Amino acid sequence: MASKTGLKLVTRDNGGVDIAFRADVLAGLAQAQKAVPARWLYDDAGSQLFEDITQIPEYYPTRAETEILQRRGKEFAQLIGPDRAVVEFGSGSSVKTPLLLRAINPAAYVPLDISGDFLRAAADDLAVKFPGLPVYPVEADFMRKVALPDAVAQIPKLGFFPGSTIGNLVARTAVDLLRTMRETLGEGSQLLIGMDLIKDRQTLRAAYDDAGGVTRAFNLNLARRINRELDGTIPLGQLRHEARWNDEFARIEMHLVAQADMKFAVSGRDFAMRKGDSIHTENSHKFGKRSSATLLLAGGWTPTRRWTDTSQRFSLILAEATIPRSAP
Ligand code: AVI
Repeated sequence: MASKTGLKLVTRDNGGVDIAFRADVLAGLAQAQKAVPARWLYDDAGSQLFEDITQIPEYYPTRAETEILQRRGKEFAQLIGPDRAVVEFGSGSSVKTPLLLRAINPAAYVPLDISGDFLRAAADDLAVKFPGLPVYPVEADFMRKVALPDAVAQIPKLGFFPGSTIGNLVARTAVDLLRTMRETLGEGSQLLIGMDLIKDRQTLRAAYDDAGGVTRAFNLNLARRINRELDGTIPLGQLRHEARWNDEFARIEMHLVAQADMKFAVSGRDFAMRKGDSIHTENSHKFGKRSSATLLLAGGWTPTRRWTDTSQRFSLILAEATIPRSAP
């Protein structure tokens, strides 16, 4: 599974329970607004459901970003050039990464991912598509500084972080990640990053609550995972998937809403929800031109070029790890 929102390396107790998962769930369910970090959505079933989401008609981000990558190849080649090592945060999806690599013809490709299996499969796939391109997969948690292979030490880097995965992080964590990426890639590197745009509520809500119920299944899978892995008794049939627009923070939030008063246990601890209470399971922040620039600058990246798809739904931004001009 490719890491979406910074999965940490797994440590299990004697019973085989993922210790960090249990700690996050127990702490999150004890809060007044119950919440579980979004990274736990991605067990094997959740990762497959996310892949399915990228194919549904209402989920525009994948198609919109792919369109930009398809149409702007010449500009990428001009602005990035052929001599960089592409470092991808999360191993490459089969569609987007080849579009970039074909456009810029890089010196090397370094996919970073927490999941060794997924990483090797993605690296093998690209090695077949791009014979002659040196590929150096690195199994690592990219939320921390990663030591890149010696073979690319002297090559300038282009970080690639598509999909608007940055939007799944709250601002403080997003800034931390951008700064960590800068440390990993080094001064003078570039970053090509996908950021989803603020748009009408109907389009946004439909993208996160599709008619076919795939996103609903993705969200409910988290409760199912809690029951399976943490000895939970959450009554799944009494939870409803909801995609909520939070205007103050410009984000879609996913919630699991209780349809009746309920009591349940997880890992031997008792919890209760009143009808209408929810478990908050994901944030997906959306950006405007200014907010995306502010976030990048706070993370140590100066935006140099911004592209959108023809329907203005999604942006792909090129930024540089240079020190911006200081205030007068
Ligand atoms: C991975 N990430 C960018 C997706 C998003 O759009 O925030 C996750 C997702 N959640 C529901 N649908 C898709």
